[in-house]
Amino acid sequence: MSALMKALFETDPASAAILAAETQRQRETLVLIASENYASPAILAAQGSLFCNKYAEGYPSRRYYNGCQQEDAIEQLAIDRAKELFGCEHVNAQPHAGAQANTAVYQAVLQPGDTILSLELAHGGHLSHGMKLNISGQLYQIVHYGVDRASGRIVMDQVAELAAAHRPKLIVFGASAYPRHFEVERFRAIADSVGALLMADMAHVMGLIAGRAHPDPVPFCDLVTFTTHKTMRGPRGGMILCREALAKDIDRAVFPGQQGGPFMHNIMAKAVMLAEAASPAFRQYAADVVTNAAAMAATLQARGYALCSGGTDNHLLLVDLRPQEITGRDAANALEAAGICVNKNGVPFDERSPMVTSGIRLGSPAITTRGFNVDAATLVANLVADVLDNLDSPTVRDRVRGTVAELCAAHPLYDGYLPA
Ligand SMILES: Cc1ncc(COP(=O)(O)O)c(C=O)c1O
Repeated sequence: MSALMKALFETDPASAAILAAETQRQRETLVLIASENYASPAILAAQGSLFCNKYAEGYPSRRYYNGCQQEDAIEQLAIDRAKELFGCEHVNAQPHAGAQANTAVYQAVLQPGDTILSLELAHGGHLSHGMKLNISGQLYQIVHYGVDRASGRIVMDQVAELAAAHRPKLIVFGASAYPRHFEVERFRAIADSVGALLMADMAHVMGLIAGRAHPDPVPFCDLVTFTTHKTMRGPRGGMILCREALAKDIDRAVFPGQQGGPFMHNIMAKAVMLAEAASPAFRQYAADVVTNAAAMAATLQARGYALCSGGTDNHLLLVDLRPQEITGRDAANALEAAGICVNKNGVPFDERSPMVTSGIRLGSPAITTRGFNVDAATLVANLVADVLDNLDSPTVRDRVRGTVAELCAAHPLYDGYLPA
């Protein structure tokens, strides 16, 4: 690794200087962005491997290019590991990202004009679940269910009613900002009642599922998509799991339907990720992510902050800042100035625009990877509350930034990554 880094610094000092600055930012910042994490050195090495040089259009043993023996081996390893870890019938390891995985599923199982029933974006869903500017919203009829204003939970009776009224061909559950478990068996029953396929987009929580710290939707769903860079702690990317009956359609939709040559370096990193995710250490990690998020939720609530749905079952919290009359944008900017990185996030029934918002989303996956225990997570939540309580105070900001610096120094990241 260090020889490769040295080459980078010698070949392109300008790019390398930017990487050095980003390395410093990551080392000196607390990441509470729920969708971010730190890939291990082994995964970074795989992503930087010379598998990036190879074209391998097709699938293992069915390639359009010669010389793909090791590409077959590495992709098959990723597929076999995913089958073993998730207990699924078929795996496609090629999607470049979560959005591509979802789009491939739609292409595989729907015709343009067919109906998808999914969670409202403003209630925690994802743009690839039917936003009008996304290809999903342009090609398909979209019907959305939402969360209850009081409980913040998905209204399953509404899902059932909308399914009966619109008879979707595909029902999607899964979210970017939903802090609770999904009622998977109820979704399955509703899908069966109207003859729909059921897809779980587990982009956010697949690492918790791998680590057995979250209910497993795989046995109940026809299709499961996920991203590999969030709680899975792998390289940026997407994957699809499905029943054998859909395997051919899924593979055809990913390639040649959506993509050209697979990113073989990325698929190698996915294989490494799956080995890591099957380890006892990862199981502990997943449990710790949930414990840390719960501790952060309890701390913020004790400090007077309202959480959408009243808490969390998973790795994320959605703080509703309307009672404090501060915007998500101002809160996120103040936290960043104090060394804590979060994202502004709309809360259900938000009246502010997505660029302003009335909430922030916090998550525990990155700090847990960094080794933060419950006490440290509690301290971090108190620091967040300190900043939010004193949004315009440079004194508080500087004090918090000092504590953040101490915490970061006590939990070093990527030692030896840059050449000395
Ligand atoms: C629920 C959900 N699905 C899909 C995606 C898309 O993943 P990507 O950014 O890799 O395209 C995300 C990303 O945030 C997500 O939260």
